[in-house]
Amino acid sequence: MCLKFFGIFLISVIVACECSKILLIHPTFSRSHVIPLQALAKLLALKGHNITFVSLYPFDKKIDNYRDIKVETSKEDKELFDEIGKTMSDRKSPFKLVSIASKATYKIGNETLHSERIRQLMDNETFDLVVIGYFFNEFLLGLADHFKCPSILLFSGSFYYTLNKIIGNPLLPEAIPHPIINGKELTFLMRVFNLLLNAADIFFTNFYFSPQSRDIYNYNFPPDRYRSYDEMIRNVSLVLVNTHFTSSGPRPLLPNLVEVGGLQVKPNPAPLPEDLKTFLDDAKDGAILFSFGSNAKSIYIPEDKQKIILKVFSKLKQRVIMKWESDVLPGKPKNVLISKWLPQDDILAHPNIKAFISHCGYGGVIEAKSNGVPIIGIPLGADQKGNADKIVEEGWAVRLDMTDITEESLTNALKEILSNPKYRDIVGKQAILAKDRPMNAQDTAVYWVEYVLRHNGAPHLHYPGADLNFFQANSIDVILFIFAVIYAAFKVIKLICGFIFCRSKKGSNEKLKRN
Ligand SMILES: *[C@@H]1O[C@H](CO)[C@@H](O)[C@H](O)[C@H]1NC(C)=O
Ligand SMILES: *[C@@H]1O[C@H](CO)[C@@H](O)[C@H](O)[C@H]1NC(C)=O
Ligand SMILES: *[C@@H]1O[C@H](CO)[C@@H](O)[C@H](O)[C@H]1NC(C)=O
Ligand SMILES: *[C@@H]1O[C@H](CO)[C@@H](O)[C@H](O)[C@H]1NC(C)=O
Repeated sequence: MCLKFFGIFLISVIVACECSKILLIHPTFSRSHVIPLQALAKLLALKGHNITFVSLYPFDKKIDNYRDIKVETSKEDKELFDEIGKTMSDRKSPFKLVSIASKATYKIGNETLHSERIRQLMDNETFDLVVIGYFFNEFLLGLADHFKCPSILLFSGSFYYTLNKIIGNPLLPEAIPHPIINGKELTFLMRVFNLLLNAADIFFTNFYFSPQSRDIYNYNFPPDRYRSYDEMIRNVSLVLVNTHFTSSGPRPLLPNLVEVGGLQVKPNPAPLPEDLKTFLDDAKDGAILFSFGSNAKSIYIPEDKQKIILKVFSKLKQRVIMKWESDVLPGKPKNVLISKWLPQDDILAHPNIKAFISHCGYGGVIEAKSNGVPIIGIPLGADQKGNADKIVEEGWAVRLDMTDITEESLTNALKEILSNPKYRDIVGKQAILAKDRPMNAQDTAVYWVEYVLRHNGAPHLHYPGADLNFFQANSIDVILFIFAVIYAAFKVIKLICGFIFCRSKKGSNEKLKRN
């Protein structure tokens, strides 16, 4: 009896001990980047871990074991974010987009790190693990040194150079397209372009982004008290990336680079808000979802194109749910419902949704595929064109560029997607393929996070290649050395031959003379 109680006591102690205090942080305006990290945080809270989540987007409902800390932002920050949306919608200046997006990340990240709330956490609390929502923000890794705990990065998009570099995963531009030319066949000329794109990534990362990130790190984690920026990058335990080979193609992956594509897609959709539910349930002829995501926004669509889009919608027998970031939409047709924020993944799971008109942001494409909904892609900037081309190539989307939108082209695109069964068949098969895994995305992510916790940061996963510089990693130093040795050997042989030849020549000359 006593033993039995002791056993129960022991088990409860063990269970209690397995739960860790985890800090998850993603100080960015870009809500779509925060969603996968939030999904992970919720799953970890459900397993009993004590979660602290730092972002601009707290949940409106209370969740057990889950504490939201809202990042305070200034008016300037908000203006910077609006500028990102406008620049993306403008579609003209990809470099400007990257430069303001990174500027906003640095500014808000820096402000967050010396905000009162974070200082309080740093002064009074301890954590067993820091999980960073990754996007130009390596400087947050100082938190892992502060709390003397392991760190994990989660990126909501596809792989790219900077992410690969942190853990030393190979880039392989000969076979793996850069995210912005995804879906293109790598012919010889495309390989040339791909190499140049990757070279540009390497250049900008090392000479533009890293120095800024390092400055913020050094300001918030001064070198006299903290380990260096480079040391903390090499100390990252695990990178989770929101891809899966069924979408992004097969590629070599180190064991500490784990694909959790579809992390934010709930295996069982959450119930919809009453108004959306009724609107969709009553859509006898089906419904269409229209969203340009959390950064680009529908309100930035040029006015003439807005008019065309609404006119086409008004002639449809289907209903349309439209993400519209304002209270009013002049000329809104009767079959259109507008809302500033939508539970996109849950809407896409509704059986009456027949098509998704999307800017092809990474998250939306994954959610549509998982729910078997064909896309009409209107890509704007960033990786969206690559995403659109990829799903057109897979056969479950049509692409329409903003400049090409006319009443006729949009009507035709809708007619094609809604009446040709091909698109739904293909995306249905793709959804089955994407879900056929030993463990779903959610369980995989939780498993690896707990793996890092169980094994104190799992340093045995660290790849030695991550510590090499460019010359070492490409064996350039070794090849140069071998050439130098061969060259020296030739020189020596030549010298010896010359010497012998001279001697023998001298000898024969002497012989000649004697004769
Ligand atoms: C989680 O951690 C916070 C901060 O240390 C603490 O106040 C809270 O009681 C913990 N919650 C649980 C459920 O252990
Ligand atoms: C936490 O730290 C702050 C300093 O950042 C301090 O002012 C505050 O009193 C501390 N709170 C507790 C509960 O210890
Ligand atoms: C970070 O913020 C502090 C305080 O506002 C400022 O002094 C510092 O220059 C900022 N660092 C960078 C790199 O922007
Ligand atoms: C990170 O650094 C600490 C302290 O040097 C070390 O114990 C740990 O193994 C490192 N983790 C990884 C993943 O390299």
